[in-house]
Amino acid sequence: MRMILITAALTALSSTAVCAADAKGGKDVYDKSCKSCHGVDGTPNAGVAKMMKVEMKDFKTVDLSDADIKTAVTAGKGKMKPIASVTGAALDNVAAYVKSMKK
Ligand code: HEC
Repeated sequence: MRMILITAALTALSSTAVCAADAKGGKDVYDKSCKSCHGVDGTPNAGVAKMMKVEMKDFKTVDLSDADIKTAVTAGKGKMKPIASVTGAALDNVAAYVKSMKK
């Protein structure tokens, strides 16, 4: 039963997001390249913020555009260095995933 529910949920998700970037694929990118600093659900890692002496935004409460997110990743933002390993579809997907954290 649980499996059926999950499958149904995934189908619903993928059909609503056909032409948009793939937030689900973005989760893998996020977990690998962003989570250590930005937290599992967008809650900043307090240790990182303290070490870098910067106020980090919580992705759950901040409104960011695709462009804001992509520029932060490709060009860096303030104390955050560019993440050169994230490009192309991975970049589109991670931007969609970060936006999906907004509650
Ligand atoms: C080494 C830690 C670290 C990693 C890894 C990292 N970030 Fe950041 N990020 C930061 C810090 C620190 C800031 C705040 C910079 C500042 O304001 O000076 C930040 C800021 C941002 C912002 C800007 C938010 C705003 O203030 O408008 C975005 C968007 C962002 N990060 C996205 C990402 C994404 C997406 C990834 C993964 C591809 C990522 N970051 C990986 C540390 C990190």
